[in-house]
Amino acid sequence: MNVSIIGLGFVGLTTAVCLAGKNIKVNCIDTDKKKIDVLSKGISPFYEQGLSKKLSKGIKTKNLNFLTNFSLIDKSDIIILAVGTPSNNDGSANLSFIRSASRSIGQRLKNVRKFQVIAVKSTVPPGTTTNIVKSIIEKISKKDATKDFGICSNPEFLKEGTAIYDTLNPDRIVIGSNDEKSFKIMKNFYEKFYRPKKIPIVKTNAQTAELIKYANNSFLATKISFINTIANISQRIPGTDVEKIAEAIGLDSRINPLFLKAGLGYGGSCFPKDVTAIINLAEKLGYSPELLKNTHKTNQMQPLESIKLLKKSIPNLKNKTISVLGLAFKPNTSDIRESVSIKIIKKLKKEKAKINVHDPMAIDEAKIVLKGINFCSTIKECIQDTDGCIIATEWEEYKKISPQFFKKHMKKSIIIDGRRALSPKKFTVMVDDYQAIGLGKNS
Ligand code: UDX
Repeated sequence: MNVSIIGLGFVGLTTAVCLAGKNIKVNCIDTDKKKIDVLSKGISPFYEQGLSKKLSKGIKTKNLNFLTNFSLIDKSDIIILAVGTPSNNDGSANLSFIRSASRSIGQRLKNVRKFQVIAVKSTVPPGTTTNIVKSIIEKISKKDATKDFGICSNPEFLKEGTAIYDTLNPDRIVIGSNDEKSFKIMKNFYEKFYRPKKIPIVKTNAQTAELIKYANNSFLATKISFINTIANISQRIPGTDVEKIAEAIGLDSRINPLFLKAGLGYGGSCFPKDVTAIINLAEKLGYSPELLKNTHKTNQMQPLESIKLLKKSIPNLKNKTISVLGLAFKPNTSDIRESVSIKIIKKLKKEKAKINVHDPMAIDEAKIVLKGINFCSTIKECIQDTDGCIIATEWEEYKKISPQFFKKHMKKSIIIDGRRALSPKKFTVMVDDYQAIGLGKNS
């Protein structure tokens, strides 16, 4: 089996190393020469648990081949398109990488005899696989989809931080194809790859598969905005606690406990982008998706709840020094895209506070976008002599900080637990002030 993967972001690279791990030859293509040079040396351009090990192994076994051109795709049985689809200014998905990769595939397909299936893994608006990818390839290669090559939508649901595990243990595989032959090739490929595990396969057409991805992500985003809404209500009712509410409602099998963790909102490269993309898509179709618009709006406001909590103890933040623990959009990643922490820091700067920040992994990334703040290499250095502290990412090391440690090093131990990382029981009695998202305090 020979597979080509175009676009080596989280999805493309994770898929590549997992396929290579099962002895499949993978041509890994990206137009970014720097990225290819680094990857060829066995170095991952981003941190992802377990990825480096699989990468080195894939290079050693010669199952992974990194290149900037499309020459080797001729040999492939399946060509996976995993290029990025960033947001345009209006929130719509930018399809320029999809178009250029399709043109390059079309050029190569001109001279290929065998039936290859092009699987679109990138998150794209419904209709893209057929109306853009298929059309461009047909036009340039002068070949017919279905007869000469196959095409399908095959969305990916992996999470950063557990990308390898998610790829090897998916809940389901979605194959959206408008022809039976492509579906069968993809189905056989996945059944063989996951054997002896039997992963449910959802068979549908390309446009439904594309919409499934947006529906999946916007549902999870809505679940988070929902629990954050309950948290904001709970926070204002003395004695109530959103954590207990989430535990209880999560035990209802119709709801389930996952993605019910209240906090400062969702970030990352997918949820914010995909929710705005589906809103944009619906509006273009003449429908205003009020629920999703409010999911997005709730999420945009949520980071500011931490400042509101801080202001209960420090009404005027001017010239106060505030420590922010956590820059990454979630733990176990160095990714700061759409991180709530960045929004909080910007707001603190507006209020003229002095800011210390710490993150176990994301400092280098943050230095590129944040100026005029103090980057600290230890937790102690970060909280030292500060007037208040906001926990913005629930890293394991932050969960282990004791109330005594905060008390010892901070000017006044005012702790805002934006991620429910600490024990309210211990902290409420031991620090000067402990405020947490969704925790209704008596005072
Ligand atoms: C997400 C989807 O889960 C994945 O299926 C899709 O393919 C890509 O987008 P990812 O962005 O890697 O994955 O992270 P995820 O773990 O889903 O978290 C997204 C954001 O939601 C993070 O900022 C996280 O802190 C937040 N979150 C998640 C909550 O605030 N509460 C929760 O209960 C879960």
